[in-house]
Amino acid sequence: MSESSRREFLISSAGVIVATGCGGGMQNSPIGDPDYYPESQRQPTPPAGDSSSGPACGSTSGLTVGPAAKSLSVNQAVMVGMPSQRLVICRSDDGLFGLLLTCTHAGCEPALSETDLCWVCPCHGSVYNFDGSLAGLGPAPTALTRYYVCEGSDGNLYLDTAKTI
Ligand code: FES
Repeated sequence: MSESSRREFLISSAGVIVATGCGGGMQNSPIGDPDYYPESQRQPTPPAGDSSSGPACGSTSGLTVGPAAKSLSVNQAVMVGMPSQRLVICRSDDGLFGLLLTCTHAGCEPALSETDLCWVCPCHGSVYNFDGSLAGLGPAPTALTRYYVCEGSDGNLYLDTAKTI
């Protein structure tokens, strides 16, 4: 893989996107495969009901999120749904959230930058922070759409596209 394509984003065989650099501070981090991490550095899968999975859903609705989202580490994202839906689940220090990867300028699909831990639009250069907020670069007028992620009583995670945050 070329260095430039590595900088765009990295997707493991499990479909997890891992930002491996934030201002250069994470450049030696493993790429994608959770098994790459030594046992001592792995984040355990949060148990059902753990607030790190997401708040409890008032009712079970929305898009069911696969189990990979529960084991995301901070600053990791995983695609969910159909690729055409451009939906990813991300984990930040504040927990899980969904992002719609549709640039608010003209609708192109931002990609996760390995080096800067941000989403970069390939069309006109708008940059969004990992949480989807504007990073102050490019013509995008507003942040990416963020969706609520919660945990149902069945233990599954749900992304509610009717509830933005
Ligand atoms: S479509 Fe993303 S910057 Fe124009």
